[in-house]
Amino acid sequence: HGQEASVLAITDGQTLVTLPPAQDHKRAYDGDAGPNTGGMGAYSPAPLVDEPMLHWVEEHIFVPTVHAMKRARRPFRGVLYAGLMITNQGPKVLEYNVRFGDPECQPILLRLKSDLVDVLEATADGSLDRLGPLEWDPRPAVCVVMASEGYPGDYAKGYPIRGLAEAAQVPDVKVFHAGTTLKDGQVVTSGGRVLGVTALGNSIPLAKLQAYTAVKCIRWDGAWCRKDISDKAAVI
Ligand code: GLY
Repeated sequence: HGQEASVLAITDGQTLVTLPPAQDHKRAYDGDAGPNTGGMGAYSPAPLVDEPMLHWVEEHIFVPTVHAMKRARRPFRGVLYAGLMITNQGPKVLEYNVRFGDPECQPILLRLKSDLVDVLEATADGSLDRLGPLEWDPRPAVCVVMASEGYPGDYAKGYPIRGLAEAAQVPDVKVFHAGTTLKDGQVVTSGGRVLGVTALGNSIPLAKLQAYTAVKCIRWDGAWCRKDISDKAAVI
């Protein structure tokens, strides 16, 4: 029992670089109601995982995992994604993924000022120890997923998406495409989770406001999103 948080780390098998924590919103509807989805929005950093807890996760979860894989002669290089339940007894691992999370990746990477290619090359080369600390934008980021009508059940595809150019004009916003494709030069829907509208702000509420300002610019038949992404951060 507790709230879920996602903590990701990058490792070359020797050196571990823990990324700022994020929180996903797995349920389809506001207030964490409705069916499970791939994730309807995320924000980072997640105040639920404070600095001491992040160090605890690093020391008690990531470091032993990386060492155990090395001892088992399966050294791991890449992204380790720990899906955590923050219980009264502390963080517990629900699952490990070996990839960035979707939609956690969007707010995390929007804050990354270092060049991601350098980080990934150093990971592949085994030279993360020489990279130096990553540089982060101090501002938090919020990602709102815009979905197709019917998702996470059956949904239709091929609806033209309007307003992407207007959304791109909203300051500190980046619209990540997930379920889209080009048809005759027009961007159309091609998946359940269609766009990850992501914004930076001086606080989580301001990042949320900016993300939803961009969301309002975008429309297609049946487009919908949760309206409460990041509100959990306010009750920590
Ligand atoms: N957001 C959940 C995942 O990427 O698995």
